[in-house]
Amino acid sequence: MEEVIKIKGNKLLKGAVDISGSKNLCVALLPAALLAQDIVTIHNIPPISDVYNLIDILEVLNARVIYKDDVLIIDSSNIKYSDLTIETMHKLRASYYFYSVMLGLFKKLKTYGIGGCRLGSRPIDLHLKAFEILGVIINSNDDTYEFDGAKMHKARIVFEKSSVGATINTLLLATQIKGKTIIENAAQEPEITELIKYLKQMGADIYQSESTIVIDGGKKMHGTEFTNIPDRIEAGTYALIGAAVGDKLKIRNIVIEHIQSLLDIFDVLEVNYRIEKNNLIVSKSKIKKGIVILTSPYPGFPTDLQQPLTTFLSVNKGTSVIIESIYDNRFAHIKELNRMGANIQTTNMNIIIHGVEELNGTVVSGKDLRGAASLVLAGLMAKGETIVSGLEYINRGYENMIKKLKKLHAKIELSLLNIEENEDEK
Ligand code: EPZ
Repeated sequence: MEEVIKIKGNKLLKGAVDISGSKNLCVALLPAALLAQDIVTIHNIPPISDVYNLIDILEVLNARVIYKDDVLIIDSSNIKYSDLTIETMHKLRASYYFYSVMLGLFKKLKTYGIGGCRLGSRPIDLHLKAFEILGVIINSNDDTYEFDGAKMHKARIVFEKSSVGATINTLLLATQIKGKTIIENAAQEPEITELIKYLKQMGADIYQSESTIVIDGGKKMHGTEFTNIPDRIEAGTYALIGAAVGDKLKIRNIVIEHIQSLLDIFDVLEVNYRIEKNNLIVSKSKIKKGIVILTSPYPGFPTDLQQPLTTFLSVNKGTSVIIESIYDNRFAHIKELNRMGANIQTTNMNIIIHGVEELNGTVVSGKDLRGAASLVLAGLMAKGETIVSGLEYINRGYENMIKKLKKLHAKIELSLLNIEENEDEK
């Protein structure tokens, strides 16, 4: 038996939903807190499984953590070195932020490779190359890395492609290396700008200008108090839910500029929405035309919203194309959408969406975080009942999605499904 989400679709959702703290920022804030070797308090940390897994790793390193009502207090005054050859490192890709933090603090680390959603290859070559330019000696075999940072030194790193993770890992390490390290072609996602603010509050000397970051490393760091930003991908996901099935759905506590690329798409599609300070009110809008979208690094349209946007565009009078330029395999949701009556093809990185009149409920399976969320959206839009498996993915990045949708009057609940039986029906 597997816990699944059961949805009776084709109902208008109304009311207000509060957006939680950013997953992709908080997964950097938690490891980085160790650099203070002091007390750090962070507000607006969402109770998602990635956070609990990171707390487990912090405690392995003898940090003391108190986490209550979305406030996290980390006391890293007495942290001790420990190899990180622990299973938790496999539970999320962002566990690799401990590589730079441990190298910075202890000049060494023995650890496992990483986990995270299957979205194609997802190598970490850019991280490792940057570490080597900073003087780290890396030995790896199978799934273990041994980093030796005894001879680390400042450097100039020019990334051949924009990488959020590699930029963050390099930035964190550079704060612990004496002298000026320069990062060129750095990613410019809001999470990086916020992380720089946080590190500067802890005493780091960092200067960011567009895709250049200069870190004057080796400064003594100390504790601080910080508030995590709202999650722009959760906000975008609920904005698409509103545009698909909302009746003046109010999405509260967002940073409008962080989802501007989605609002630009809403303008082209003539989606009915309005902005009220840091809230977005959006209603079901019949889409009568197709659109061509390219996913790209911030401030372009984020790849993390490609999957829910694919679902939204699948009921339409026109044909749309989404060029997925970031990941070579972020398409697992498409087969499932077609089983619900969508008419979507993929060639190389292109997703060709021939709009259909409606979707029909059936049993579908989510294979990754945003893919599973895009199938929940499909269930909310579809006629009849939809069963979505992959709840464990949803819980990684969406706080209490079922509870939030129920509050918006969605007909949605947790259920149990005997997956074996269902496999035969497919
Ligand atoms: C971050 O992943 C996010 N995760 C992802 O969100 C997001 O999709 C991605 O940035 C792109 O915006 C977190 O922040 C925890 P990248 P990251 O390094 O850092 C390739 C979600 O749903 N690449 O910017 O891993 C990579 O394969 C997740 O919340 C290399 O080739 O992404 C991809 O094609 C999914 N070598 C591209 O670069 C490397 O060493 C961008 O990846 C690293 C990345």
